[in-house]
Amino acid sequence: MTKPPSIVILTGAGISAESGIDTFRGGGGLWEQHRVEDVATPEAFARDPDLVLRFYDMRRAAIQTKLPNAAHQALARLEREWPGRVTVVTQNVDDLHERGGSQGVIHMHGEHLSAWCTACDTRHRWTGPLLDRPPCPTCGARALRPDIVWFGEIPYRMDDIQRALADADLFVSIGTSGAVYPAAGFVRLARELGARTLELNLERSQGSAWFDESRLGPASAVVTGWVEDLLT
Ligand code: APR
Repeated sequence: MTKPPSIVILTGAGISAESGIDTFRGGGGLWEQHRVEDVATPEAFARDPDLVLRFYDMRRAAIQTKLPNAAHQALARLEREWPGRVTVVTQNVDDLHERGGSQGVIHMHGEHLSAWCTACDTRHRWTGPLLDRPPCPTCGARALRPDIVWFGEIPYRMDDIQRALADADLFVSIGTSGAVYPAAGFVRLARELGARTLELNLERSQGSAWFDESRLGPASAVVTGWVEDLLT
């Protein structure tokens, strides 16, 4: 019996844009309003922890007011109905895939709703602020930081991602500009390992030439359309 095709899906900020969460690049993007070096590096946190904690406290509060959109829900439907394996790898730090119904999502850049204790190396689901230096629920140290992979840090679960890419028959990239590595390199890796590659994005991404096919438009339309095509 042949194995049903495995699908690996990489998502970025574009999939959450229609839920009202800012993307990073382009007009009005988050990195136009804040400098990466001020809020998203370990050096920034060492230099001015209050500024960094305030920034992430705001973002953590904001995402909890947003709702998953049709694109998140379509990926959850695909996971439920596709006979083969579906692995969602996201660069997003919101929880909209989970609230849309996806399970086992790999958050390679961390999660807003998680706090990491740098004293005892435990992680805790976190919905409130960190600016007031709450104690770690495990060890009591006031050493919690946002569980976010900052620039210069190594993304999470790269081994799991490599394994999923090696097993993929189809690699799909959704709502990401292809500007940030290593995620931007997954398309080439997936191709080399034998997968077909598809891009679903508002506009062509930086790595567009590496995709066998591009479907352009807002995620709520192109992702739902693609899932519908695949399942019928
Ligand atoms: N539907 C589909 N795509 C969209 C939509 C939409 N409604 N709106 C915007 N896009 C596309 C943009 O055209 C762009 O190509 O989503 C992409 C968003 O790109 P970025 O803002 O660069 O976000 P992302 O690729 O996720 O960024 C990668 O950079 O700063 C870091 O850690 C941060 O995880 C993030 C990483």
